[in-house]
Amino acid sequence: MKICLFGGAFDPLHKEHIRLIERAKEVLKVDKVLLMPSYNPPHKNSLATPYEHRVKMLELYAQDSSGVFIDETEKSLNLEKSYAYIVLEKIREKYPKEELYYVIGSDSLIKFESWAKPEKVAKLVKIRVARRALSHDVEGYCAKLNALYEGADFQYAFDAEEESSSELKLDLELKRYDRLEGRVYPKILDYIKKNNLYSRHASIIERLKSELSERLFDHSVRTAEYCVKNAWMVGESFDRAFLAGLLHDCAKERAPLKALQDYPTNSPSVAHQYDGAEVAFKEYGVTDKDVLDAIRYHTTARPDFSPLGKLLYLADKLESGRSYDHIDALRKEVTEDFNKGFVSVLNHGVSYLNAKGVEYDVLTLEAYKWYN
Ligand SMILES: [Fe+2]
Ligand SMILES: [Fe+2]
Repeated sequence: MKICLFGGAFDPLHKEHIRLIERAKEVLKVDKVLLMPSYNPPHKNSLATPYEHRVKMLELYAQDSSGVFIDETEKSLNLEKSYAYIVLEKIREKYPKEELYYVIGSDSLIKFESWAKPEKVAKLVKIRVARRALSHDVEGYCAKLNALYEGADFQYAFDAEEESSSELKLDLELKRYDRLEGRVYPKILDYIKKNNLYSRHASIIERLKSELSERLFDHSVRTAEYCVKNAWMVGESFDRAFLAGLLHDCAKERAPLKALQDYPTNSPSVAHQYDGAEVAFKEYGVTDKDVLDAIRYHTTARPDFSPLGKLLYLADKLESGRSYDHIDALRKEVTEDFNKGFVSVLNHGVSYLNAKGVEYDVLTLEAYKWYN
């Protein structure tokens, strides 16, 4: 018997997961698919949906799909940290004679040598790869790893399409259910609504919506969208990217909290970034120092800016509602090289202010010098 193994947080299971499962049945001609939900969330910063809910959602899909089952080996092991070689060893014990295919994304493939005990993993299962980006030389890596590990069987299987759980979570948090049709399995969407999942930020969203003008709220949502969509580039969690983007302008439409001379800036339009960090902390209950720091410098940037800070700075300037000369080239540059793109956007902002003859903030000047 041929069995295909899929691991993941499945938070939640979405359209692209389902497409890959169906592709695996078709291409690998397997008799059985085992979904292996991760027991501990993979990123310690991310607050994953409770395990029981994630499994329940998988069950709703598995009930309707022939040959699909859920494997809870990872939970039964109750490990401090999840290691593929330990989980796969257990699964191999359960299925000693079966042909086991383990599907991984090409982003994991190119890091395979840094997995814990990669030689064990390579011996336990045949690895089939879903290509996540055209730039990933899947065939080349497979050949290299097949030569490197004894008994290894790595092969390209199919292409993956883009759909990220993060963007899905954003639409769920914002209750934009009309956008979720076709992207989440209907029974799973019903389950999410019934159990009020992905609503951890509901009170923040509601409050912000009632405080900001529609125009500024929409800009805030688009900024959060950009942050969440690109968070993976800097290894940021959904929650931190979402909160920073959503709340960055929370004080923009208020009167300044202090007299202008009491701000560390020479520009009145910059005061709202400092007030924003304060309001986010005191009124919206944000305690994460990195999120507050990103908000505090989102207009000016600053030297030695954190990855989250850079992400928010870029999001504010490049979100989908913005339109100005060269913006598409800047957006493209960021997707090709995040840090280089950040410097280009910073420099673009400085030249814009120069051309307009506007005096810019001391911090912007310091950031400009630091990054050039
Ligand atoms: Fe702002
Ligand atoms: Fe903004």
